[in-house]
Amino acid sequence: MASATILPLDSVAYGGDYNPEQWDAETFERDLELMRAAGVNLVSLGIFSWASLEPTEGTYDLDWLAAIIDRLHAAGISVDLATGTASPPVWMARRYPQSLPVTREGVRLEFGSRQQYSPSSSVYRRASAALAGVLAQRFGDHPGVVMWHVNNEYGCHVSECFGEESRAAFRSWLQDRYQTIEALNEAWGTAFWSQRYADFAEVEPPATMPTLHNPSQLLDWRRFNNHQLLGCLLGEIESIRAHSDRPITTNFMGAFPPLDYVQWAQHLDIVSDDHYPDPARPSGAWDVAWQSDLMRGLGDGRPFLLMEQTTDAVQWRTRNSPKRPGQYELWSLQRVAHGADGILQFQWRQSRRGAETFHGGMVPHAGRAGRTWPAVVGLGETLGRLGPVVGARTEAQVAVLVDCQSNWALQAAIGPASEETDFAGAKAWHRTWWELGYAVDVVGTAADLTGYRVVVVPQIFIEDAELARRLTEFVAGGGQVIVTARSFVVDPTMAAVLGGYLGSLRELLGVRVTDVVAATGTPANDGENVAGYVEEPLTPVHRISTAVRTPGGCDVTGVDVVDEDLARAVRDLTGAAEDGLPVAGGRWAEVLAPAGDPAYDYDSGAAARSRETGVDVLARFTAEGGGADLAGLPAITRASHGSGSAYYVATDLDPVGRAGLATLVAQRGAVAPVLADLPEGVEAQRRGEHLFVLNHGDEQVVVPGVTGLDLTTGEHLDGELTLPARTARVVEPTPASPTSEPASAPLTSALPSR
Ligand code: GLA
Repeated sequence: MASATILPLDSVAYGGDYNPEQWDAETFERDLELMRAAGVNLVSLGIFSWASLEPTEGTYDLDWLAAIIDRLHAAGISVDLATGTASPPVWMARRYPQSLPVTREGVRLEFGSRQQYSPSSSVYRRASAALAGVLAQRFGDHPGVVMWHVNNEYGCHVSECFGEESRAAFRSWLQDRYQTIEALNEAWGTAFWSQRYADFAEVEPPATMPTLHNPSQLLDWRRFNNHQLLGCLLGEIESIRAHSDRPITTNFMGAFPPLDYVQWAQHLDIVSDDHYPDPARPSGAWDVAWQSDLMRGLGDGRPFLLMEQTTDAVQWRTRNSPKRPGQYELWSLQRVAHGADGILQFQWRQSRRGAETFHGGMVPHAGRAGRTWPAVVGLGETLGRLGPVVGARTEAQVAVLVDCQSNWALQAAIGPASEETDFAGAKAWHRTWWELGYAVDVVGTAADLTGYRVVVVPQIFIEDAELARRLTEFVAGGGQVIVTARSFVVDPTMAAVLGGYLGSLRELLGVRVTDVVAATGTPANDGENVAGYVEEPLTPVHRISTAVRTPGGCDVTGVDVVDEDLARAVRDLTGAAEDGLPVAGGRWAEVLAPAGDPAYDYDSGAAARSRETGVDVLARFTAEGGGADLAGLPAITRASHGSGSAYYVATDLDPVGRAGLATLVAQRGAVAPVLADLPEGVEAQRRGEHLFVLNHGDEQVVVPGVTGLDLTTGEHLDGELTLPARTARVVEPTPASPTSEPASAPLTSALPSR
């Protein structure tokens, strides 16, 4: 068996999904020329080719694929070979209708679109693993095949199935998990609402029910679906590994809620990602940063591949904004800055027919006419100059934790506010640090915290005593920790933490949560008891109602900053006057008590230090907005442990509050932004010794303090960089200028050798 643990590419991988089977032979010849012209060195082949590879059950036709791989290889273009299992052929649907997925409402999904398989279908699992094995046997040591692309976007359209085989698999998964039905009854709290089971045979998935589901059942259902899809991946990996030692990936979709990618990434040699940020949103560049930092974190800091993006617009939004001029290259270089060793697109050639006819491609309908092709060639040239960057690591001193299981649990919880969005806390805090100019890692809760100066624990809903222990150790070593509202509220079965939330974190934080005031927001008319009653605007004749003061109708909770350092940080960031700092909390607010003393009443003085707990109060709730019943209670606290500190934020702090707190914490933790004094709209990232400077704004800017060789233009910079709107530069320090971390090994050299 050939040993290939390094992508044999001398620069950043560039190319995309390639579907030559959808085109004629002449087009294929032209494609080879165009790929060379664009600097393409890697294509993903066969992603949706199952029907061509196995036209009838058990009959494989691989010769056409062999011819294409050979030609690409001869042309110097490497192949990321897909197993083609994301869309089974029609014979499977007709011969084995039980392989089709069934929705919660009991609707069987038909053939004729894509991804129409149940993750629990034994027929699908057998056939997909067999196809992967047949492909690996034939092409597993082909010199042109440099990596494997298993399936495509697992769970994207179908992440759960309520068919018979899935229901049986769910029962046997539960039996493995709980062993006895008594243990399941305990974990699911079935004493509530008379839900007790006598036997595993009686248990069903959480299908459509009269009213609210059992949250523990919902959480286990999500765990089960994740497990089933992961099982599909592992089945294919096993088949490939019998014949091939090439690195394996499957393409992720950012923080895709149904799947626990922290777990999945452990099984992959290379993490890869598909990402379609919306160019119509000003947060597009942050989205690129967030998702890239997450992908790097999933791979324990190793470089990742951007497996899919669009050159221009997608076709699946209601309104499909195209990228602005320059943005395709800018966002691509931004991903490289954040750790990508490959920039691939969906897809090479824009489709002529089918559901994706109007989705962008590297070769658009207009061919070389229009604005896409020059941008494609331009990026190819730029990436071709970035060989020195490949393999280097992007280092960060700030970590934001993500926990997919906690996200599931937060979604499964019914109340106190049922409007949670996925990973909202992690995203909000990541954005805060990114906008301020710091490098950030997004990592799982089990990640090694060594080397970080700041760790943010946002909405980690499931109590994790081991994490609490490690955070305590981290703070004892001088680290700064920020924990936010909704953390450590339930145990892994969804049972509420008793005695005040925060459980095993109470000691570190010095506080616990005694009440949740998920206040306010516009009073909903959607509760069953008020259905049909629309609240009347109050008038003087509402003699009684006008005297009722309710925090309802407010989307914010007033917050008053009482700590002088925090106030200064907010003033410096916003230019606000001494009084009336523009900081507020959100709809979720918590009442805190000292960790150990239920009777303790917080001092209402400014920046008071609790006599008994040593906890500083940095901000307090005011009666503004939804805070009517919270005025004076602590909103942000800090427990100091030597030079380390543990902050608790008892509300969904607004962006200004978060930025102020992050700035204060950075100062105390001695963390600096990547570059100081950056003009508005400009991001800087360091990857190994290379400095990336990216102007996301609409104005040309001059960035001070940049010296070295600009790899993108070949120009030498001496202390200043002029950057037009929506452009990026990659600067290699000249020997005299200071360097940071040395480049580590290229993408796949970190893979286990086989
Ligand atoms: C996903 C899929 C691709 C394509 C793109 C379109 O990422 O993996 O096959 O459908 O979406 O944006």
